[in-house]
Amino acid sequence: MDKVIDFINVNRERYLEELKTLLAIPSVSALPEHASDVKRCATWCADEMRRIGLQNVRVVDTPGYPVVYGDWLGAAGAPTILFYGHYDVQPVDPLNLWESPPFEATIRDGEIYARGAADDKGQVFMHFKAVEAHLKQTGRLPVNIKFMLEGEEEVGSAHLDDFIRAHKEELKADVVVISDSGMFARGVPSICYGLRGLVYFQIDLRGSATDLHSGSFGGALANPAFVLAQMIAQMKDRSGRIRIPGFYDDVEPLREEERQAWKSLPFSEKKYRKDFGIPKLHGETGYSTLERTWVRPTLEINGLLSGFTGEGSKTVLPATAMAKISMRLVPNQHPDKIADLFDAYVKDIAPKTVELKVTRMQGGKPWMTSYDNPYVQAAGRAIEKGFGQTPIFTREGGSIPVVSTFQEELGLPSVLFGVGLPDENAHAPNEKLDLGNFHNGVIASAHLYEEIASIAVTA
Ligand code: BES
Ligand code: MN
Ligand code: MN
Repeated sequence: MDKVIDFINVNRERYLEELKTLLAIPSVSALPEHASDVKRCATWCADEMRRIGLQNVRVVDTPGYPVVYGDWLGAAGAPTILFYGHYDVQPVDPLNLWESPPFEATIRDGEIYARGAADDKGQVFMHFKAVEAHLKQTGRLPVNIKFMLEGEEEVGSAHLDDFIRAHKEELKADVVVISDSGMFARGVPSICYGLRGLVYFQIDLRGSATDLHSGSFGGALANPAFVLAQMIAQMKDRSGRIRIPGFYDDVEPLREEERQAWKSLPFSEKKYRKDFGIPKLHGETGYSTLERTWVRPTLEINGLLSGFTGEGSKTVLPATAMAKISMRLVPNQHPDKIADLFDAYVKDIAPKTVELKVTRMQGGKPWMTSYDNPYVQAAGRAIEKGFGQTPIFTREGGSIPVVSTFQEELGLPSVLFGVGLPDENAHAPNEKLDLGNFHNGVIASAHLYEEIASIAVTA
């Protein structure tokens, strides 16, 4: 193992140069104008997999963006890891808020700035380099490993479940490893044992065939912007509770054990408020900030559009109004059931004065595991070796839709070991990744394979 770690230390600078070329590819899955970039990124990943010594590398087409697969299966009798990550990234807007161009990775103050640095290219690259170090130094890996990277995570992984069902045999493994989440705080490495799910909707209202003069017509018809505001206002009450009938029926109550454990985490609501420029924290009554983001469901407006928003004033009745609304779900809420409840509620509260269109978009199931399984414990030891610190166990508010599919379709537990920091601006301008965490993450990943190898395979 020493040789492997030496290799990682010696090649530290080279890794950054290589990571920069990966970060230079604008693989924005949400925007059709980047379709060729997303595909180019898949090819880049496949080429990299070959360079580091993986075998059977393939770019597999799906009805959406391709899945990139590569494996190394030379450790007879040892466990098999299925590694999952995503090579697509979020859009970069608003571009003017970036201090350096999003696709020209720039190093400042020990952080590498670029779209995808933390979510998820930098974290996937960590594992590429850990595999490379093993294979280059010893000619083998302590475990079998199958890499599966997708290009549609940031738009809801619409084709991945089918891909997994169609390739069950090839994807057979003992455990899934994912680095696509965060550390609890700087200097506090963590393993995530729960994710929220997601349901996403667009609501479109139309109040007239075209925009109208607000003097000539104002008062004679319903303004869709106003109607939308009134509808949205009925979705939550003042205590932050969602008013959709049945919404909370399947929510697992917060466990006393978790409430107690989280009280001792190094977390300050005051610092959180200040760090993110929030005037006053707000959320569901009776829950702390961590509880609100980890175990309670939410309903949020992600976007709102109507009327005149330019400089100055314009007296107009907008013809249309649009909102993007999403709900984060917790165990045991089911996205389909919640979607039906939301759809029915919206139709129920919409007045006859507007035309209503409700469109369901991407989503995913919530996920939770127990943290006493041997793989999670192995990851804990690996992180301790990479970071010099014992990790803590956390849940997260974000979603990785495929994690529940791994459980349901392949019967596989997942280990979520992420090194992003809460202030690293995932999905926001100036996304970055701490270089120290990246480096320690490569070392921890290299140890992870060895630690998992030490677990006896039961199957
Ligand atoms: N890496 C994130 C998920 C995540 C965020 C996990 C924070 C843990 C902590 C992932 O890339 C992501 O952004 N997922 C989307 C999923 C959606 C598009 C279906 C999300 O959570 O919004
Ligand atoms: Mn991600
Ligand atoms: Mn993301």
